Amino acid sequence: MIMDSIFSASWIRCGADCCAGGPPESLVWSASGSGHNVTDAGFVFSKCFDCAKTVRKASLQVTALGVYQAQLNGARVGDFILAPGWTSYSKRLQYQTYDITAMLREHNQLDITVCRGWRFLGRTKERITDGFSDRAAALIAAVDIEYHDGSAQKHVTDGSWQVEESKTRYANIYNGEICDASFESQSSAPALAFEHDKSILLPQQGEKIAETQRLEARALINTPKGETVIDFGQNLTGYVEFTVRGGKGRRAVLHHAEILDKDGNFYTENLRTAKQEVVFICDGEAHRYKPSFSFQGFRYIRLTEWPGEPNPADFTAVVVHSDMKRTGYFECSDPLVNRLFENIVWGQRGNFLDIPTDCPQRDERLGWTGDAQVFFRTASYNYDVEKFFCKWLADLAADQAEDGSVPHVVPNIFDREGGSAAWGDAAVIIPWQMYLTYGNQGVLERQFDSMTKWIDFIQSRSRNFIWNKGDHFGDWLNLEKENGGKPADKRMIATAYAAYSTGLLVKAGKVLGRDMARYEQLHRNIVWAFRRKYIKKNGQVRGDTQTGCALALKFGLADNKEAVASQLEKLVKKCGHLTTGFVGTPCLLGALTENGRVKTAYDLLMRREYPSWLYPVTMGATTIWERWNGMFPDGTLADKGMNSFNHYAYGAVGEWLYGTVAGINPDENAPGFRHIVFQPVPDERLSFARASLETRHGLVEAGWKRENGKIIYTFTVPQGCSASVRLGGESRETGPGTFTFEQEG
Ligand code: BGC
Repeated sequence: MIMDSIFSASWIRCGADCCAGGPPESLVWSASGSGHNVTDAGFVFSKCFDCAKTVRKASLQVTALGVYQAQLNGARVGDFILAPGWTSYSKRLQYQTYDITAMLREHNQLDITVCRGWRFLGRTKERITDGFSDRAAALIAAVDIEYHDGSAQKHVTDGSWQVEESKTRYANIYNGEICDASFESQSSAPALAFEHDKSILLPQQGEKIAETQRLEARALINTPKGETVIDFGQNLTGYVEFTVRGGKGRRAVLHHAEILDKDGNFYTENLRTAKQEVVFICDGEAHRYKPSFSFQGFRYIRLTEWPGEPNPADFTAVVVHSDMKRTGYFECSDPLVNRLFENIVWGQRGNFLDIPTDCPQRDERLGWTGDAQVFFRTASYNYDVEKFFCKWLADLAADQAEDGSVPHVVPNIFDREGGSAAWGDAAVIIPWQMYLTYGNQGVLERQFDSMTKWIDFIQSRSRNFIWNKGDHFGDWLNLEKENGGKPADKRMIATAYAAYSTGLLVKAGKVLGRDMARYEQLHRNIVWAFRRKYIKKNGQVRGDTQTGCALALKFGLADNKEAVASQLEKLVKKCGHLTTGFVGTPCLLGALTENGRVKTAYDLLMRREYPSWLYPVTMGATTIWERWNGMFPDGTLADKGMNSFNHYAYGAVGEWLYGTVAGINPDENAPGFRHIVFQPVPDERLSFARASLETRHGLVEAGWKRENGKIIYTFTVPQGCSASVRLGGESRETGPGTFTFEQEG
C-alpha cells in the first residue's frame, strides 16, 4: 500500500452553487467578535467508485477544514468523534487513516460530511488561501485499494467529487446542532479543487476522541416553572442520544445545563452566549439520533419542545473525551474525599476532549495554559496523558510567539494575547512533569527550544530579575478580598514562577546533557532578587497571603522555611480556611505538610463548610467547580458569567492525595517511577487510604490502615524498580515486591 496518499490529493470545497442563496436566517450565527456572519450548515462530499476485483486491503485517509464524519456504503467509517480534532490549524492539521477493507463492495459510495467545528472560534478570521470566503467547507482525502492480484487503485479528492448540503442544517461547537430529517438537498454540484497548504498535514498524533460511557436518565423532573427536565445524575461532556418520532416538521428541542437554580428550575445563564441547543426536525419516521458535530457540557436537559409524551428510557447521555487509558486510583475511609476524587476524575474526562480545556459548557472551551499547568501532575496520574499532551505541547510550541511569549490559550485563537506568569509557564512545567511521570526524555528534547524561549521571554520582561512588565492573571479567583485582605502581588507571583521555571529548565537541560551554567546563574539571580524584594527581615513573605507563602515554600524561595511555614499556618488559622486561587491552591497543602504542618493541611482537606474542597461535594457536586463560591448553601450563585461547574483547576489537589495521603511520589533521578519515594502522611481522621498507579514499569501501590493501635503500611514495587520508604523520619531502601511496615499510630 502506498502510504500517505493524501498528499497526492487536492483540497476540495463546496462551490458557490451549494449555498447560492445563502443559508436561511435561522442558520446564520455571528461568530463572536469576528464581525462577520458565517453559515454553519454541513456539506456532504461524495464519490462513487467500483471495485472490479477482490480487495486485499484498503484504506481511507482524510482530514477537513472543519470537522468531518465519513460513511461508506451507508455505514460509519471508524469511530473517531469530531475528527480531525483540534490543533493549531494554520500550522498543524492531523489526518486520520481508516482500514476500510471489510466495508468495500462492487459499487461503492463514499460520503464525507464536513461541518465547521472548531474553525472560526477565533477573533481573527482564518481564510482559505484562494480567497473563497468563510463559507467554504473543505476536505482532502485519498482511498487506497490493493487487489489480490497485486494491482492497485487510488481515488483522491478532486473535481470529480460531488457536494451538497447535508441534513445537518447547523452545527456549532458552542450552540449545538440542528438536524432536519426531512431535508433533501435540491442542488448537488461538483466540488471545486483549490490550492491550500498541504505541508500542514500530519498523521494523527494525539489520542482519538471517543464515546467512553453511556448513562441512562436518572429522573424526569417537572420544575416549578413547568419545564420538563431529565437528570442524568452526573455533570459530563458529550451529547444525548434519543429516540424520537413525530409528524413531518414536528420538532424535538433539547437544551443542556449543568445545574438547576435555587428554586429547582433549569439554569443556563452561566453558559453565557453558548446555546447548547439540539434541534431534531421530524419526517414522520422513528429515529434514533445523536449529534455528530458538536458537544455539550451538562447534567440536565430540558425538553423545550418534544413531540408526544417523553419517556426517560428514550434518552441516553453519551460521554465523549480523548481515549486515554485510566492509570490512577485513590480511595480512603472518608466518602466525601472519595467523591472529591471521583469529581477530579470526571473533571478530567469532561475537559480532555482533544485539548485540555478550561470548561466544556460556556462559550470558552479553550486550551487555557494555566489551568492545564496546575492540573497536569494530577492528570498524568489519573490517566496516561503522554500522547495527548505531546500533541498539545507541539501546538503550544507552534503557537509560541517569536519573542517566546506563550499564548493564554492553545490552540491560540486570541491572536497576540499571552505571556502571563503561571499560564505561559505551562511551556516548561508540563514537559518536566511529563518526564517525571513517564520517564521519557523525548518530550524534553522536543520541547527544549520552546522551554528556553519562554525563560528568555521572561527575562526580556524583567528588570533586575524581577518580572515587572506585562499583564498577569495573578492568583485567579482567590478569596483574599472577600476576607478583607489583598490578593498576592502579581509581580511577586510572576517572579516566583520565573525562579521555579528557570530551575526546571536547568534540570531539563542537564538531563539532555546541555551546558546550563548560564541558566543556573540566572536561577540564582532570580532567587536572590525575589528574596531581596519579597522576603521581610523576619524571614516572612511580604503581603501576608497564603499564596505568597505557599509559592515561596514550594518553589524553594524561602530562606527561613520555618518562618514562612508558621506565617502560612497563622494565615490559615486566622480565617479557618483557604483563600488561595488558581495559583496558590495547587501548592498549599504540600507547602504545609512538607514543613511540618500536617494537621493544618488535613484541616483544609477535611473541611466541609464553604470555602473548601469538600463544600461543593456536600452541595451535590459531581465535578470540580471553577470557583470556591460557585453556589452558596442557599443555592444562590456568586457570579453568572464566570461560574463553571466543570473546571478542573482546583482538582490539582489530586496530586496531594496520591503523593501525601497515600504516599506515591516519583524521583527525578530515576523518573517514570523507576525509583519510587513512598512517603505517606496519615491523619487520625482517616482509618485507611490507598492509591495505585499503572506506571511505565508496572503497578505501583501504596496504602495504610489502622489496626489495633497500629498503622500498617503496604507498598508494591514493580519488577526492575526500587523504592525509598520514608516513615517516621527514617528512610529504607527496597527492591521489587510487596512490603508491609508497622508503626505505632
Ligand atoms: C478561564 C480560566 C482561565 C482564565 C484566565 C477564564 O475565562 O475559564 O480557567 O484560566 O480565564 O484567567
